[in-house]
Amino acid sequence: MNSTNRQSSYSAYSLEGETDMKERILDESLIGKILTAEEAAETIIDGMTVATSGFTPSGYPKAVPLALAKRVRNTQEKMEITLIAGASVGDELDGELSREGIIKRRIPYQTNESIRSKINRGEIQFIDQHLSHVAQNINYNFIDKIDVAIIEAIKITEEGNIIPSTSIGISPTIVDKAKNIIIEVNMSQPLELEGIHDIYTIKNPPFRKPIPIINCFDRIGSNYIPLNKEKISGIVITDIKDNVRPLAPVNDNNKIMAGILMEFLDFEIRKGRIPKELLPLQSGVGSVANAVLKGFLNSKYDNLQFYTEVIQDSILDLVEAGRVCCASGTAITPSPEKLKEILLSMKRYRDKIILRPQEISNHPEIIRRLGVIAMNTAIEVDIYGNVNSTNVLGGNMMNGIGGSGDFARNAYLSIFFTESIIKDAHISTIVPLVSHHDHTEHDVDVIITERGIADLRGLSPKERAKRIIENCAHPDYKDQLREYYNRASRRRGHIPILLNEAFSWHCRFESVGTMKNDTGGKEYELSSN
Ligand code: COA
Repeated sequence: MNSTNRQSSYSAYSLEGETDMKERILDESLIGKILTAEEAAETIIDGMTVATSGFTPSGYPKAVPLALAKRVRNTQEKMEITLIAGASVGDELDGELSREGIIKRRIPYQTNESIRSKINRGEIQFIDQHLSHVAQNINYNFIDKIDVAIIEAIKITEEGNIIPSTSIGISPTIVDKAKNIIIEVNMSQPLELEGIHDIYTIKNPPFRKPIPIINCFDRIGSNYIPLNKEKISGIVITDIKDNVRPLAPVNDNNKIMAGILMEFLDFEIRKGRIPKELLPLQSGVGSVANAVLKGFLNSKYDNLQFYTEVIQDSILDLVEAGRVCCASGTAITPSPEKLKEILLSMKRYRDKIILRPQEISNHPEIIRRLGVIAMNTAIEVDIYGNVNSTNVLGGNMMNGIGGSGDFARNAYLSIFFTESIIKDAHISTIVPLVSHHDHTEHDVDVIITERGIADLRGLSPKERAKRIIENCAHPDYKDQLREYYNRASRRRGHIPILLNEAFSWHCRFESVGTMKNDTGGKEYELSSN
């Protein structure tokens, strides 16, 4: 896609380009702001804080970051920036910029291998944040300044407002707060996306008002991001597609966990604790979450409502199957195959989908009031119900807490999934004590592994430990867990713990490559304490 610099009217473009441009930039006065990606990247200099659109590999700017990385590669100039996006973004941004050493600080979430390894080597300062907090931290001025915001748009309206693309994230906030704004108008994003966005911003205390969402499908704002045109430092035309990632195939354990979830929900309906059409659902990121949601395709549930963060393939499949009444989130995050379908016909999905700023999609008050059923994935869980979602072996960052804390703490029901063992059974995901705490025992209602379910509601720590060990742990590790628990429970205290052994499983894995100890085969009974 060519972008000719500083043309003053549509007619300066070829006939085809002119038609495209007229559909995408309706305010002719902005045509003169069109720059090449390279020219726009020139405005980014060392020491800046750059904030971008994007949430998951959806709706993030691509052309300007690629041009910036190329420039730094060629000139070897010193360039260190703070990068803030709504969540993770695609490789053109997190990957390219981190490989060139451009990112010095990153807020609040990532999923890219290049940036992750630099974070874990201590070369990038990473601030892992609840995603509902990011926009308000900017608004509270907890983050000092935003020099440049780069926003992907499908279109700029006649009034000069922005119609975002496949995600919203923190875009309304950074458009408001940034000194300068670069807009990437992405011709590959379907114009049919217009109308799915619901932009609503909230004021700082003490002027904050209740957010008037009563149902998932309520629209409370505008379908565009208001923009002060004076702040536009460049408009870049691009057609680079969202660099979305394939999902891992659904494995047998995922199917078993989905089955357990369905049985559990049926039980809750029979008990009269949730209505037969369920409550609004939230599903986390990752292959397990996606696979578990696929279970709804073969279930009897209809008219499903999602009040969630990311709209992944399984939700789109449910929309296509006519099983969804509304899916509210902040990003559409399809697999590459699904993206092709979306690009061909967004119409199939758009009536059922609402995209909101992440501060609204993840807002604790709305989640609590709607009674969301939250379903997230754990890296590991301990016998008392604490969950680690972020740091492998205590300190190696995987992705970040994302929205899991926003949902887990405020949900009607907070469910966590994990396979009971990984790495050829050398790691038990049920451990004596999690090596990092993201969701405490107070925020976790139910744990599901392929071995079974532990409903922890109303249980004391000692009761929880027995239920988690007996229902969720893998047989290879049950005796080891019982033995640990029995010895710990001989000590006084509300929560049985052996301080000098609580992390011994992780230490053993780090030193000899397995969490298994050498007492295998010996049977232990749980003490009745
Ligand atoms: N010990 C060591 N490594 C572990 C582990 C454990 N207990 N559990 C998982 N891992 C590793 C896996 O081996 C894998 O690494 P690999 O690819 O090098 O093998 C990696 O973590 C991801 O695990 P995977 O099984 O592929 O899980 P996933 O794709 O379902 O993601 C989380 C699981 C927890 C990483 C992911 O859900 C996450 O980032 N959650 C936090 C954010 C969140 O929940 N957001 C949603 C809110 S809306």
